[in-house]
Amino acid sequence: MKSGDTHNLMPDSVSPASAPLAALPFPWVPRWQTLLSSLAMARQPIANLNRVHANYGDTVGLHLGGIRPCYSTRDPTLVQHILQKNHRRYLKSDLTHGLIRYIGRGLLTNEGPDWLRQRRLIQPGFHRQRLTGLTHLMQAAAAGWVHELQTRTAAGPAVVDIHEAMTRVAFRVISQATFGASMSDAARDRLSEVLTQIQAFYVRTIRQPYLRPWLQGIGSYQRHQVLSQELQELVRGYIRQRQQAGPGTTPPDDLLQMLLDARYEDTGEPMTEEQLVDEANILLLAGHETSANALSWLFYLLAEHPAVATQVRTELEAAGLLHRPAGFEELARLPYAMQVIQETMRLYPPAWILDRVALEDDEFQGRPIPKGTLFSLYLYGLHRHPTLWPEPDAFRPERFAVGAQPPVPAYAYLPFGGGPRLCIGNHFALTEIQVVLLETLRQFSVAPVAATPVAPVPLITLRPQTGLHLRFERLG
Ligand code: HEM
Repeated sequence: MKSGDTHNLMPDSVSPASAPLAALPFPWVPRWQTLLSSLAMARQPIANLNRVHANYGDTVGLHLGGIRPCYSTRDPTLVQHILQKNHRRYLKSDLTHGLIRYIGRGLLTNEGPDWLRQRRLIQPGFHRQRLTGLTHLMQAAAAGWVHELQTRTAAGPAVVDIHEAMTRVAFRVISQATFGASMSDAARDRLSEVLTQIQAFYVRTIRQPYLRPWLQGIGSYQRHQVLSQELQELVRGYIRQRQQAGPGTTPPDDLLQMLLDARYEDTGEPMTEEQLVDEANILLLAGHETSANALSWLFYLLAEHPAVATQVRTELEAAGLLHRPAGFEELARLPYAMQVIQETMRLYPPAWILDRVALEDDEFQGRPIPKGTLFSLYLYGLHRHPTLWPEPDAFRPERFAVGAQPPVPAYAYLPFGGGPRLCIGNHFALTEIQVVLLETLRQFSVAPVAATPVAPVPLITLRPQTGLHLRFERLG
């Protein structure tokens, strides 16, 4: 795709490694210690980061992989400073920009004036009014999943790999919302497969940088570049097909059409084909694994807490929605269902960590932050902060009720990020999750299969272990 393109959008002079660590005003884990624990950190980053924060405080310096200096923070004030108050001084790091090589330069990976221009152009496509039209696609994907469950439970309760199932549902939703309902199952499966392979490879190169020469030697980079080309061509094919549609055809109400119809305010021009391909790719990437993980954790928690599932059904019944799907406008009448989703994403934020680098010298509460300082905004730790949340590890959806005491602490709950780079698909995702949740609980109960708690696997997103099995049964 963009070979030779700059994958790192930082100016050359800004390198995280260039920050003078000794001058930095937060505590540091001794380097020998991070070196010793680098394998444990790679294998179990959450347990290790929690331990480091418990020992050193809310912001702590450490060497990623024993090599790369970085601050991990779970301090809401610092997180707000970086994402919102002083956002102009921070960019995403090469950890995010590295994706450009495979997925392209779309909203998620772009920076600066280019990003702002694209964001302004695309934002209207995600407005509430537009979501009304997309809800029927979500309903259709939810109906497909419920139909599958009906078949599988026809002879009695069935054990389902929920993460595998939710990945399919979420990909169906985002691919249909982007390209319309015309995509064949085979094309969708291929698209999903290619994206999954690219992502898994990318994570590997980040997690185990010492493998890079070997991966290079065995041709892995080249193979994934070919996959990336295939992704481009698949997406380009859909764009051209749409552009060539005859004048008599009514344009579908999907995200691709929104991207095609959008015009820059200053020039009145549409996006180029390259931009269209990149933005469509980014929507597919950003919009499926995150939602799939949120849905998987949601059903996992409901299986563990049947009383919460019962309360969601009680709410549905009181709203007269137990025997038919809820329409978009009716979802607002189900606040408890939304609290259950919010609490799920507190305990298991699909985007569990965000990266930022200081573009120039900055200051936080009188402490200097030199240009090039790399930050990991540790959302998982923020969401379970022991002094910000009462019983931080407990699943208590009522925390998010209007007027709940204590209120949700400011900038301590950021499943969709914050500031100007807040997730553009947040309402889309919440609607999708609500629709799938309600359609499932209307007809099925869900129970755990294994007695042991499921551990999260933190890759780019926070996944459950492969093979998260739950038991579904038709309600009488
Ligand atoms: C539960 C589901 C989702 C979660 C938890 C989630 C989370 C996030 C987070 C935390 C960010 C900010 C990243 C940063 O600041 O570094 C983000 C950005 C983004 N998300 Fe989502 N997301 C979800 C679903 C979606 C969906 C469904 C779409 C598309 C339909 C989407 C598209 C995007 C895009 C394009 C960006 C980049 C926005 C920008 O920088 O202007 N996301 N998401």
